[in-house]
Amino acid sequence: CFLSSSALCFVLSEPVEAEEEIVSRSHFPDGFLFGTTTSAYQIEGAYLDDGKGLSNWDVFCHVPGNIKENGNGDTADNHYNLFLEDIELMHSLGVTAYRLSISWTRILPRGRYGEVNPMGIMFYNRILDHLVLKGIEPFVTIHHHDIPQELADRYGGWLSPLMQEDFVHFARICFESFGHKVKHWATINEANLFVDMAYIRGWYPPSHCSPPFGKCSAGNSDVEPLIALHNMILAHGKAVKIYRQEFQGKQGGSIGIVLHAMWYEPLRANNELDQQAVTRGLAFGVGWLLDPLVYGDYPSEMRLFLGDALPRFTVDEMDYLKGSIDYIGINHYLTLYAKDCLHSSCAPGGSDHAIRGYVYTTGDRDGVPIGQPTGNARFFVVPGGLKNIVNYMKQRYNNMPMYVTENGYAPPPGEEVQLNQILHDVKRIDYHKSYLAAVASSIRDGADVRGYFAWSLMDNFEWIDGYTVRYGLYYVDRTTLKRIPKISALWYRDFLANSSGNGLDL
Ligand code: NOJ
Repeated sequence: CFLSSSALCFVLSEPVEAEEEIVSRSHFPDGFLFGTTTSAYQIEGAYLDDGKGLSNWDVFCHVPGNIKENGNGDTADNHYNLFLEDIELMHSLGVTAYRLSISWTRILPRGRYGEVNPMGIMFYNRILDHLVLKGIEPFVTIHHHDIPQELADRYGGWLSPLMQEDFVHFARICFESFGHKVKHWATINEANLFVDMAYIRGWYPPSHCSPPFGKCSAGNSDVEPLIALHNMILAHGKAVKIYRQEFQGKQGGSIGIVLHAMWYEPLRANNELDQQAVTRGLAFGVGWLLDPLVYGDYPSEMRLFLGDALPRFTVDEMDYLKGSIDYIGINHYLTLYAKDCLHSSCAPGGSDHAIRGYVYTTGDRDGVPIGQPTGNARFFVVPGGLKNIVNYMKQRYNNMPMYVTENGYAPPPGEEVQLNQILHDVKRIDYHKSYLAAVASSIRDGADVRGYFAWSLMDNFEWIDGYTVRYGLYYVDRTTLKRIPKISALWYRDFLANSSGNGLDL
């Protein structure tokens, strides 16, 4: 029991279903971080201001047809100019933490082939200072999908091992410039999802894909995602080595990584082969990124299927990768079904991971979706999935500290048309309540979860969906950029203010 009051301990030890929506702040340990989260490209705008260089997304979004309604992050939420107001919004919610990312090209407009931009350093220092002033703990992601276009042009981005040195150079500047204000670093956001989007599906720059996905009829190569992630893992490991050797002692922070962590259920209930597909899916999802960082090598399940196509680490690399995270950052949005494809065939095209040949996932069982649909065709509302993935991590990684670094809801297309529908976002409240209840339940079961960040503070640029999909607690008027609280913002505020209640009763 994590609470000092024995009466509360008694209450909390009662079994409570993860899906039960009675959850209050008092169900979480003291010091548990409650935050909101964003990323630089999705909110900052000012894409050419004050010496910033072009990123891969700046360039990608300017190609007609790449983004829904040809949206881009040129202006986004203009957080670059409105950050004080945004920090004030967070303060009014009562959050204790804010997860942000640093725009690589605001700091290094040309990567390591140019100078540091002092205006970029100043911008993030001002943000960090104001957060600290308001008692909001900064939780900083160094790299969240955007790389300097210069590096994409020079060597194809993460496909090149040279990117490792670029990342280390960038990370070192971040540690030097901001480290004394940052107690929680994350090296890279959702590397395991990024390589899927960028090198299998072709949806993110550099738009490489392999059949049957994306625009590909003939593929680049099935091994590209494996190579790109290998480089990202090594980049992480090298940056952490430097942080630990030169900064961590005097700055006293922790460093981890953030992964896209989905859960699977067997498509055919109680089917042993589909259960094995679930196990493989988790190894290829979570284990692919985390096993090297905890144990020094890829999961044996992957090696078994991929053989030499899966890159190998040298002994020295294994040595510095092993134990290179202080915590796990979990971004959780979905649970899907997994179907065995080894003993029966899985039709290509409709499947999620058939391209890897090992697991086949789909959104429904006998025509019934796994949970309520959302604004992303692949994401479904399954709160128990968060509890399951947390418990899986707890077991696989020796109950290392975990943070739910992202969790959030966007409504399906067509559900929010009028402004009053957008602002009256009851489903988002239900979503956060039920997922928070799942986290509380995992903690009661002994999982070391230390924080929860709602994606997102405000509606923002949702990558290939542009501005057509909204995750925010605040609505952002696309013409005036005025931030207007949705009722979910009011609910979160009341949830955080109330140690005993369930937040705003609606
Ligand atoms: C995870 C990503 O980190 C974030 O950038 C994205 O907007 C959300 N998922 C919602 O799709």
